[in-house]
Amino acid sequence: MVFDKKKHQAIIDQVEEYIAEHKDTVKQHHWREHYHYQAPVGWINDPHGLIQYQGKYHLFYQHHPFTGKWGTMHWGHAVSEDLIHWETLPEALAPSEEYDGWDGGGIFTGSAVNNDGVMTLFYTGCAQARQVQCMATSTDGINFDKYDGNPILSDPPEGINLHDFRDPKVWKHDGSWYMVTGVTDGVSDLINPSNYETNGFGKVCLHRSENLTDWEFVGYCVESMGELGTMLECPNIFKLGDKHVLMYSPMGMQQRQVVYLVGDLDYQTGKFHWSTMGSLDWGFDYYAPQVFDDENGRTLIQAWIGSWPFMPWCDGTYDTSELGWYGSISLAREVSLCHDGKLKFTPVQEVEKLRHSPKRHTELKLNDGEKFAFEAGDNVHCEIIADIDLAASDCDSIVFEIRSKGEQKTLIELDLKKGELAFDRTQSGSRSALRRTCPLECASKDRANIRIFMDSISVEVFTDGGRTVMTNNIFSDEDSAGLYVYAKNGNARIETLKTFGMKSVAE
Ligand code: FRU
Repeated sequence: MVFDKKKHQAIIDQVEEYIAEHKDTVKQHHWREHYHYQAPVGWINDPHGLIQYQGKYHLFYQHHPFTGKWGTMHWGHAVSEDLIHWETLPEALAPSEEYDGWDGGGIFTGSAVNNDGVMTLFYTGCAQARQVQCMATSTDGINFDKYDGNPILSDPPEGINLHDFRDPKVWKHDGSWYMVTGVTDGVSDLINPSNYETNGFGKVCLHRSENLTDWEFVGYCVESMGELGTMLECPNIFKLGDKHVLMYSPMGMQQRQVVYLVGDLDYQTGKFHWSTMGSLDWGFDYYAPQVFDDENGRTLIQAWIGSWPFMPWCDGTYDTSELGWYGSISLAREVSLCHDGKLKFTPVQEVEKLRHSPKRHTELKLNDGEKFAFEAGDNVHCEIIADIDLAASDCDSIVFEIRSKGEQKTLIELDLKKGELAFDRTQSGSRSALRRTCPLECASKDRANIRIFMDSISVEVFTDGGRTVMTNNIFSDEDSAGLYVYAKNGNARIETLKTFGMKSVAE
């Protein structure tokens, strides 16, 4: 279908006009993030098309510019030289064609490759009747032409729901191109995503191509009887050491929102043989991560910090929607494989550029229940790192109380007795006032380490050396800024507590 370049440009011009008109108003609010990327205006979800191209990091994302709620999808676009300072560019892709222009669908999630110097994007065109895979190209990394032969892949394998065939992630292996997509053999029931009787069983499809435009089905990488999810969104396959990792964002796996499987991919059959399963992040608000390799050889991951309204832990409304925006993108995390086959996630070293006002406490003794107040920059936009001597601690748990004032507070608890990390936002002042827990490994060891990144609303927590991670949004009052640490039912010894304020790099 011949690309209607004029129509496409006209929609992009409208978006740019709307953004220019509203961005200064949106900027004002104290909930706008200081160092997590956000679109200047509107709703965002999945980051995608992540690539380092002509030396710059490119970040595209699902964008509905016109309201603070999900709507017809466009691809927003930003670039950075260091993964920290982002510059928003004009909208990259807009819904202009029959196969991607449906109001209520649009340009869904995809990926990017460098094909002999041409930046080549793959995305799902979501029209009313079906989801199809499409391609667009650019030689300047700013202006994109949709391929005249779109869609490049419109038929999912037999038995697959035509409405749930999406999120192409493309890579090259041994001279051929491969694409994974997420599918289900059921019919989506978003209100109850765990119901596999209607939602069916989630699968990941593998296709192969020699030229990026003609694709043949190789096989299913994973299939399940529901235990791997009812629909597997945003699949990625990548190599780490001598293993492969398949990660995806399942519907219907309750607290497991972002799953990784470590194993081996058989390129002949498409089958993914795996032995280890883990969660990339246990928070309410970390979804649809995408992976890419940068020119320094690092395997990096970024995700959407946000949550779908139909998730059981979200009450269908968002604290910032009325302000004309929602969602942010997580700090880039470097992924590595540990000896036991699990993954660990480390914020890229570039985040240290943001630090100011360092403070350090050593040999801190916490007596049962006594709160130790500390400072970290303005206490809201900051990084906190604690090394805890568990051998010299006899408490049941160690609690970091953040964004605290009167009744309002958020608790991050290392529960050593239960072996749990808990994030409690029941008193944060937010909607979706809930507490979430996940298994904590260090509880059975002599030492523990915790690293917390706080921004205006997002909180990224790393423990177990980056093996246990939780990301959540909290929408607290501007002046709720108390920071405390204390021990419960016993004493604790914190060897070092380091804090930094974090600079604002918001545009
Ligand atoms: C994941 C997702 C993708 C889809 C996109 C639509 O968050 O549901 O599967 O392509 O969002 O915005």
